[in-house]
Amino acid sequence: MSVAYFNGTFVDSNDPVVPIDERGHQFGDGVYELIRIYNSKPFMLEEHLDRLYMSAKAIALPFDQERESFKEIIFQLIERSGLDNLDVYMQITRGMAPRNHLFPDAPVSISMTAKPFRSIPPELREKGAKAILHPDERWMNCYIKSLNLLPNILAKQEAHKAGCLEAILHRDGKLTEGTSTNVYVIKDSRIQTTPLSRHILAGITRMAVQKIAMEAAIPFEEKHVDIEELYEADEVFITSTTNEVMPIVQVGDKLIGDGQPGPMTRLLQRHFQELTTTTVSADA
Ligand SMILES: Cc1ncc(COP(=O)(O)O)c(C=O)c1O
Repeated sequence: MSVAYFNGTFVDSNDPVVPIDERGHQFGDGVYELIRIYNSKPFMLEEHLDRLYMSAKAIALPFDQERESFKEIIFQLIERSGLDNLDVYMQITRGMAPRNHLFPDAPVSISMTAKPFRSIPPELREKGAKAILHPDERWMNCYIKSLNLLPNILAKQEAHKAGCLEAILHRDGKLTEGTSTNVYVIKDSRIQTTPLSRHILAGITRMAVQKIAMEAAIPFEEKHVDIEELYEADEVFITSTTNEVMPIVQVGDKLIGDGQPGPMTRLLQRHFQELTTTTVSADA
């Protein structure tokens, strides 16, 4: 069952509970997280919560809910859903107040939904997906998981119109990330991905892939990859909580390698799958 939570009350996810003057609605003035629950266990919960609290702080959102009690809401939501495998989205916003750009003197709003996994067709993970290239038109603070996703949405829609799964964004000739994913190329058995900076989100799945690479003694290089290097890569893949490890076999009209998911991407997919069955938190 899909269930939701809004400021202290558990509701049906279709209930109209968010008021018009809510700042998430009026301004996108808030931050969010998506945590995936595998077999009733939140995957890398602590890492997601670290990022949520960091994002809130970065936009001066006074989100001071004690972490254990916040987790308790998540656990209750999972239990109420009656599902074993689900996506929990959570939004923290600057609360409700008559519309005015200035920060209100209002308590933050907390909303959450728990729904079955957003389905990515399994054959895509098997055969690989296509992507387009798109200029990165976002702001300079993409490390914040902000509710403001307009440039991401517009670019993703362009990808969709072109029959592709994702738009790979580039700034000054270098790849940054996908609209909702991190991007990697593999060249000569080395994984290469954009260094963490203000220009990309520090993906939790990226963290998991880095750990897998380290354990498998696969070089994981943080470097700025240019568009030519993307086209000439042996393999390309993207990662996110929803996509997990997704091979990219074509960018625009150019095939990557032989147009099939490569062996290293397959290996990372296998290891990631294993992690989701064993890991609660990266350090656990
Ligand atoms: C812009 C962007 N980059 C990367 C990611 C991947 O992050 P994660 O692996 O934590 O899901 C996301 C996920 O939503 C995203 O929106």
